[in-house]
Amino acid sequence: MKRRLLARLRPTRFERKILVALAVVALGSMAGALLLVGSAVREAYRTGVSASFAEELASGAEAHRENLLLLRALTRLRADRVGEDDALEDALAQGDLETARARLHELGEDDPRLEKVAIDDRVLVTFERERDEGEYREVIERREVGEAEVALHFAVPESIFEDYQRAGETAELYARLLDRQDFVSDTYVAAYSAAVILIAFLAGYAGVFLSRRVTDRVRALVHATRRVGAGDLTVRVPVQSDDEVAELSQSFNDMVRDIADSRARVEYLQRIGGWQEFARRLAHEIKNPLTPIQLAAQEMRDSYDGEDERYRARLEDATAIIQEEVATLRRLVSEFTDFSRLPKVQGEPADLRDFLLEIARSVPPLLVDLGAKDAVHVDVAIPESSIPVEIDSMMLKRAIDNLVRNAVQAVLGSERGTGHVWVTATHDEESVTIEVRDDGPGLSPDELERVFDPYFTKKREGTGLGLPIVKKIVFEHDGSVHAEPSPEGGARFVLRLPVSRARLA
Ligand SMILES: Nc1ncnc2c1ncn2[C@@H]1O[C@H](COP(=O)(O)OP(=O)(O)OP(=O)(O)O)[C@@H](O)[C@H]1O
Ligand SMILES: [Mg+2]
Repeated sequence: MKRRLLARLRPTRFERKILVALAVVALGSMAGALLLVGSAVREAYRTGVSASFAEELASGAEAHRENLLLLRALTRLRADRVGEDDALEDALAQGDLETARARLHELGEDDPRLEKVAIDDRVLVTFERERDEGEYREVIERREVGEAEVALHFAVPESIFEDYQRAGETAELYARLLDRQDFVSDTYVAAYSAAVILIAFLAGYAGVFLSRRVTDRVRALVHATRRVGAGDLTVRVPVQSDDEVAELSQSFNDMVRDIADSRARVEYLQRIGGWQEFARRLAHEIKNPLTPIQLAAQEMRDSYDGEDERYRARLEDATAIIQEEVATLRRLVSEFTDFSRLPKVQGEPADLRDFLLEIARSVPPLLVDLGAKDAVHVDVAIPESSIPVEIDSMMLKRAIDNLVRNAVQAVLGSERGTGHVWVTATHDEESVTIEVRDDGPGLSPDELERVFDPYFTKKREGTGLGLPIVKKIVFEHDGSVHAEPSPEGGARFVLRLPVSRARLA
């Protein structure tokens, strides 16, 4: 299963060529794009990530740091001033908290960041300050004042720390980017290339699947051609859609059908040739002893001069039978000879209308000959205007005569013993079609297959050569003939002569 799938995915030689063509177009433009993108990325990077910008960033970060250090120094300075104040120390030593509070107010009033002051963890002074919104960080400076510990609580805006941190990080990141400039742009280009290659592969397979709709049909043609080459003329390829491949398939089918037709024709004509030779020899072999047999019989009858009347009568009877059978054999010999000497068809310009008139004229004597004058009605449809064709009128008439003769005989032999026979002719751009049909007993499927075989007959005095002669004549006109049931329940024989032979003006 997996292997089948893989085999299905693997492109054929034809598909590989299509793919190569597609790839040359697609990959060519992709390679161009890749080159452009690569240099564009590098260029953009070089412009964006520059050393002077890195320096600017670094000095910005430094400024933030100095700001922070300054703040720190200021808070320390303030704490030192409080820690070294003698008046405060005295007040605290005496436990005079009121004086201490007043002194602390004086010492800290002018520092907007000082929030409160605690003595031994007890808040003594709280400053009321107007303050901007935002977060503040508490920074505590402690100093020993005499026995007591004074803690100064400062509120420093959080943004000062954050700004410093962020500026530092940015500067550092930028420095790193600057360091690895080539690596980063190479990575971008590599990732882009990988994406392009992946897309190219996917597009390639999509291409295979799409092109398969065409290549599958070409492959079917290749396969069919091989089979024809191996002698199989029954192959046909499906004709879907209306593109060039469909046209090719249609021509292929037509070609194979033509080859099959002409091969069948050639084979049949070869076989007929063999039968003609056989009929010629048979006629020859039978014909020679017929006269001696006839003479011997007469001789026997005439030379008897005995008195036995009964014997004489038997001799007369026997001689009559011999004469009769010899006459039948002579007729057979003449038909065999006729068949063996069948001339080749020679097409000449003619008028199909005249031809059918001639057929119609020959019908009454034929009916008389067959003893069907009142029993069978033969209807020959005469075209209104002339239809110029190229045929061998004499031979084709012989063929139509055979068909009409058979049809009349079939109607006569039916249970009713009466009926109709129709002869019609139609034509289109490609061919002339002549049809002889009847409402007789018709043919069984088995008979339909065998009627054109030589010596196939169901009549006591038939030779079974009538239809083979018809087929030979039609084939020599490059046409075709077949038998089928007629709509009236009898048989229908259809002759098709191509325009190349039966040329229309
Ligand atoms: N129109 C028809 N309806 C029914 N059967 C037919 C018809 N035409 C031909 N057949 C059958 O096909 C057989 C072969 O016909 P074909 O003309 O080759 O020989 P035949 O008529 O038997 O002999 P011959 O032509 O020498 O008289 C006939 O014997 C008959 O059984
Ligand atoms: Mg016949």
